[in-house]
This record gives sequence, C-alpha cells and structure tokens, in this order.
Amino acid sequence: KELDVESNQVELKDYDHYMLKEIFEQPESLRNTMRGRLSEDMATAVFGGLNLTPQDLLKVKRIVFTACGTSWHSAMVGEYLIEEIAQIPVEVEYASELRYRNPPMDESTLIFAITQSGETADTLAALREMKRKGHPTMAICNVVGSSIAQEADGGIYLHAGPEIGVASTKAYSSQCLALTLLALYLGRLRHLSYNKGRAMIERIKEVPDLVEKALESNTKCREVAEKYKDCNNFLYLGRHYNFPTALEGALKLKEISYIHAEGYPAAEMKHGPIALVDEQTPSVFVMPHGFIYEKVMSNLEEIKARGGPVIAIAAEGDERIAEVADDVIYIPQTVEYLQPIVSAIPLQLLSYHIAVLRGCDVDKPRNLAKSVTVE
Ligand code: G6P
Repeated sequence: KELDVESNQVELKDYDHYMLKEIFEQPESLRNTMRGRLSEDMATAVFGGLNLTPQDLLKVKRIVFTACGTSWHSAMVGEYLIEEIAQIPVEVEYASELRYRNPPMDESTLIFAITQSGETADTLAALREMKRKGHPTMAICNVVGSSIAQEADGGIYLHAGPEIGVASTKAYSSQCLALTLLALYLGRLRHLSYNKGRAMIERIKEVPDLVEKALESNTKCREVAEKYKDCNNFLYLGRHYNFPTALEGALKLKEISYIHAEGYPAAEMKHGPIALVDEQTPSVFVMPHGFIYEKVMSNLEEIKARGGPVIAIAAEGDERIAEVADDVIYIPQTVEYLQPIVSAIPLQLLSYHIAVLRGCDVDKPRNLAKSVTVE
C-alpha cells in the first residue's frame, strides 16, 4: 500500500517537500511523544497502553525487538539503551528473518515490534509468529489503529503525526525517544535509583530544544551537500550510541539520493572497509563528545592518513575537530544516550540536500514504498 502524496490531506505549507517539513517538525513531534509520559514524582516514565503490570515486567528476562528498515535502526538504539539503563538483555532481529527462524526463547521473553506504519508485512508476520508461541507482544507504532497496533497485546504510540515522506525522519526520532522512556521505566523497576531517574527526566525534557538547535545546522548541511553531491560512495562511521546513527545516516542517503553508502562501527574499518577509502569517498564521522571520543578520533586519523575526505558531526565548541576534519557540522552536546536523536538531524538534512541537488524526487524515491505490505 503506497500513500498517495498528491491526494494526501497533510499540507506542505512553506516547505518544498514533505521530508523537509517532517525534519523541521521534530521539536514538536518529540514533544508529542513525551507528553504526559514523564512522572517527576516517581522519577520514571508512564505508559498507558502496555497492558502489563510492574509484576509482569519484573519477570521479563529478555527482550527481542523486531523491525525493518529505519525502524530496525531505532531498535538497535533501543538495545543499547535498555541494556545499559535497565540491564535487561536485548536482541534485535530483522522481522523478515525472525518470521522464519526458530530461536529458543523461554516464557520470560518479551517481544516488541517497532514500526512507523504498523502495516509492514514482515513485521506483522514476525509478531504473529511470536504471539503464536505464547510470548507477550508489544508494538511501538506511529499509526493509530494499524494492523500491528491492533494485533499486539499492548504498546506505545509515538504520536509523531502523519509521516508522508517515504524516508522516515520524525518517526525515527520519536521511536528513539519512546525507547529512551521505556529504558527509564524498565530501569526504575530494577536498579535505577530515584536520583538517576530524576536526572534522566531533566535531560530528556531538553531534547526538543536540542533538536531545535540542531536544525540550525541546515545551512551548513546544504553547503556540505554542494561540495560532495557528485561523490558515488559514502561511508558513515560512529561508535557506541552513534553506531546505529551511522547505519541510519547511510540508509537515508541511499534511499533518496541513490548514492551508495555504508554505515559501520568506526573501529571495524580496519577489518576491510578501509580498503574503500580514496579521495572521492567521503567518510561522515558521527562524533559528539563522550567516553569513546578519543577512540573515534584515532579511527578518523586513519582515514585522513589514507587521503579520505572527512565530514564530522561534532559537538558545538569542539575546536580540535575543525583542525582534522575537512568539514564540520556542529550540533548541541548532550548525554550519550540522547545523542542518537540529536545526531540524526544533520544526517537527515545532509541526505535531503544531496538528493535535491541531484534532482531526485525525495518524497517518492524510485523503487520504494512508504509501507511495504507484501512479503
Ligand atoms: C519501508 C520504508 C522504510 C521503513 C520500512 C519499515 O521500507 O520505505 O522507510 O523504514 O518500510 O517501515 P515501518 O512502517 O514498519 O517502520
């Protein structure tokens, strides 16, 4: 099923494309995702539709996320978040694989299907297979009343509003935010103290404003796009919380500009992909400040030493990076577990501008559909 942009009710207003409009809507869509879901009194997140009691959730020993495409990338962010903050083992499975596999799972495994549309055929099939095996199934979904939302036992709606552009942007950031809230909630049922929960809430509340600031990089993203628009290959590199971001950045570029791009954990470059580096292959390093920064910096220097151009997504005030990278796109600094949301913004903008400059139809890229309801 493909959404028809022409007949769609959502207005473009002053934007050239739905994708750009949706990128710029993110401060608002993120506010909507977190609205009413933060309890300062209890220092936790609140969900109305999980249909699982705290007692049920304490019995969960393992979580499996299943999804496709961009939603699969947010699932990876969710894995890092929940393992670190709630200390529950998490696995991330492509829905198209999970539906035909038979992995051993005991009754303490909780399944989450993550999906913008709630209609992706593979995700629905994986959810049904897990439900058939007797696991509780949850949906993290944007479209209210969609098939997956209806079939799951419970879940979390994103409330990001309709997403028309085929390349997912605001639904992705809302998925990452909903997963952060879930990590807080599950963490508070386990080892996370009241104080740490309160501190997390303070940081989470800053997210819409940080995203607003990150959107100010639009002009710089356009300049960088002008410079590199004719390249045929791109690498996207990051580590820890910024590794899934690198994967998502590469996917955004592939989807709408048809440029070949690959995302890797930065330190994996030496195990093969560094052979791809040459003067015509830019590497986009996602490297706001964090404990892994120095390590990523040495990965970056290895690329520079081989003549590869480097575009860095870095924290405001990072002057050191300006000396080594060819181009720097600055974003506001935040705690590591919120970086996936903030760092995604310039990557969305960079892909958008490159695609527009190459004359591509960004809202309806060739060969792709917003919602893939066939296997
Ligand atoms: C399609 C879209 C992608 C999307 C994927 C999963 O391939 O083109 O942008 O990420 O489906 O969609 P879902 O609605 O399940 O998140």
